[in-house]
Amino acid sequence: MKKVLIFGGSGQIGRHLIRKLTKENYLVTVVTRNYHKNGAILKTQGNPGYIDVVEANIFDEEKLDDLFEDKDICINLVGILYEDKKNTFKNIHVNFPSLISTKCKKYNLKKLIHISALGVERALDSKYAISKVQGEKNIIQNFLKTVILRPSIIYSVDDNFTTNLMTILSLLPIFPLYYNGKTKFSPIHVSNFCEIILKIINKNISDQIIECIGPEELSFKEIIKKLLISIDKKRFLISMPIKIAKLSAFFFEKLPKPLLTRDQLNLLKYDNIPSGDYKTNNDLGLEAKLKFEDEISKYSYMWKKGGEYSKKFNK
Ligand SMILES: NC(=O)c1ccc[n+]([C@@H]2O[C@H](COP(=O)([O-])OP(=O)(O)OC[C@H]3O[C@@H](n4cnc5c(N)ncnc54)[C@H](OP(=O)(O)O)[C@@H]3O)[C@@H](O)[C@H]2O)c1
Repeated sequence: MKKVLIFGGSGQIGRHLIRKLTKENYLVTVVTRNYHKNGAILKTQGNPGYIDVVEANIFDEEKLDDLFEDKDICINLVGILYEDKKNTFKNIHVNFPSLISTKCKKYNLKKLIHISALGVERALDSKYAISKVQGEKNIIQNFLKTVILRPSIIYSVDDNFTTNLMTILSLLPIFPLYYNGKTKFSPIHVSNFCEIILKIINKNISDQIIECIGPEELSFKEIIKKLLISIDKKRFLISMPIKIAKLSAFFFEKLPKPLLTRDQLNLLKYDNIPSGDYKTNNDLGLEAKLKFEDEISKYSYMWKKGGEYSKKFNK
């Protein structure tokens, strides 16, 4: 049985991925910073005996040596959307991937799968994007058997994207659109994305950079409209001048979990669709078929007045 080592496995992608891996008899070790917070959710993603959860500081080299020693595959899902004093983009997106890629080489792993993000090469004024690109470069330099996945937005009931937007849309009568809501995305459902990872492992796909997209291209405004229809609400969508957006982001940045940062605003300027410079999952025969509207309708009822059965009761 192959042994898979996952960093950042307690997040949206990790939880879905662990389920798929253990179903196919992979033995999974998940590294988390907080066993007590994440242990239960991680342990219940597979049958007993398939999942080992280890609490560690991801920069603890001695611990990493122990963890890498007997593993076949490493998957890096660690990522942040905003910085704080302790967790900088450089540390999380550059230094950490560099460190684990040297460990992959040292312990002769069969593969390292690293999750980057779509569009990062174009977003030259975003610190997030610059750090992701630098991380990718370092990894490839250190360990050739690396596959880097660059997904567009990944969504599901466990995300911080559609769920947060539906909460905000439920609360506010008006909703601001940055860049007139024209930025394009190709949302991919987490289940489809995890199937891509699984196929890369099972079929031993070795392309170094793969852009991962869903079946549709939607502008941000179209995404918001679909969410509004799905939660059965009407809201005023107003274009927010970028100067005001930046000012509000400046204040949001002061919050412990900022809703929006100036760096994210810079990133939002760029379309999040394939660059044309690399293969996509479609080119490799790994199409993501789940459609945005269909999938969000499976959980949007939680934001509807009256919940799942509201319409039936009203009849
Ligand atoms: N979700 C998307 O739409 C999307 C789109 C493009 C790219 N990506 C990339 O895909 C990767 C995974 O995404 P996700 O949505 O699953 O992320 P997520 O839900 O935010 O989870 C990321 C995991 O990283 C770990 N982590 C966060 N900060 C850390 C730190 N300072 N030190 C150590 N570990 C830390 C956490 O694990 P513990 O708390 O257990 O330690 C967390 O569970 C990220 O690299 C992200 O940039 C995601």
